[in-house]
Amino acid sequence: MKKIRGLIDRLERERILTEEEFCSLIDGMDGEDREYLFARARRQAQAVYGNVIYVRGLIEFTNFCKNNCYYCGIRRGNSQASRYRLTKEDILECCREGYGLGFRTFVLQGGEDPWFDEGKIESLVRAIKAEYPDCALTLSVGEKSYETYKKWFDAGADRYLLRHETADPEHYARLHPSDMSLEHRMQCLKDLKAIGYQTGCGIMVGSPWQATEHLARDLIFMHDLNPEMVGMGPFIPHHQTPFKDRAAGTLSLTLILLAIVRLMLPQVLLPATTALGTIDPMGREKGVLAGANVVMPNLSPVSVRKKYMLYDNKISTGAEAASNIRELKQRMEAIGYAVAVDRGDYSRCPDIASIAGYIKL
Ligand code: 5AD
Repeated sequence: MKKIRGLIDRLERERILTEEEFCSLIDGMDGEDREYLFARARRQAQAVYGNVIYVRGLIEFTNFCKNNCYYCGIRRGNSQASRYRLTKEDILECCREGYGLGFRTFVLQGGEDPWFDEGKIESLVRAIKAEYPDCALTLSVGEKSYETYKKWFDAGADRYLLRHETADPEHYARLHPSDMSLEHRMQCLKDLKAIGYQTGCGIMVGSPWQATEHLARDLIFMHDLNPEMVGMGPFIPHHQTPFKDRAAGTLSLTLILLAIVRLMLPQVLLPATTALGTIDPMGREKGVLAGANVVMPNLSPVSVRKKYMLYDNKISTGAEAASNIRELKQRMEAIGYAVAVDRGDYSRCPDIASIAGYIKL
């Protein structure tokens, strides 16, 4: 449809549309429009980052969580979840393995586990940065105070992921119990940006009660926040949560959102997520071909991997495992991309030195 092409062209030019226009775009696309959108998004990613995909080693270091989000498999109320915490030594061992495999970014992700208090995380950050000063460290451990975020930043943490989940307060309240609020999450995101973290927000695509208007508002929120990273994957039900009977988000809608975000925020670090790889065996490749430029293979010890089950059937083997970086590299090369080993900071165009540093296996 002519109208849809016009909207895509304008999004590329002006980097923003109105809420109504985003809704028309998301709801009005046919197969050809989608291909056009993906091609534009790909071109945009390549203009900023070249044919380069950044890898991050994901260390899921605790699945204890004090929160009770209705969608999440490691919610406090899931008494059937088998809980674990990695020790500092375990975590450093994951980094050691990752470093050897070529990873130069580590992502420490966990539930909101009070056992890992400010001081423990700070000492983890210091230990990792002391041993791997050439690596970037990303934290993803939920909502904390400005002071805590600042301590960790001063200890050397570079980036922070905190999905906002939805920019609509009523929708937020349907996904979370009343002790959590969108307002507080937004405050956290603002604090993270103000402190100087490369900050990531994001959503689940197709979460229960999510309407196109919500997605349009999410996009406008992202535009205004201007995050360095955006994490977006499909919602996938977990059988031990209140949302167990809900439908999963679709591949198609997730790809559309990835491509729109790429056009809106050309420099953003945009992962093809594990959830995308879970709903489609070629999900990660399709994500990259819709504008994603990051993948985050799992560096957690094999013994705990199945326990970090945010949703059913979460993949953790094959190219999803950091140890299989070779397979990931081959899969990316098969679609015309190279996997880079450098830190892959925001808007850092790959130069000759980093091209010489592509993982050679
Ligand atoms: N399906 C997809 N993504 C989920 N997350 C949590 N539960 C699910 C689910 N059931 C996502 C949330 C959270 C991130 C760590 O994982 O968006 O922010």
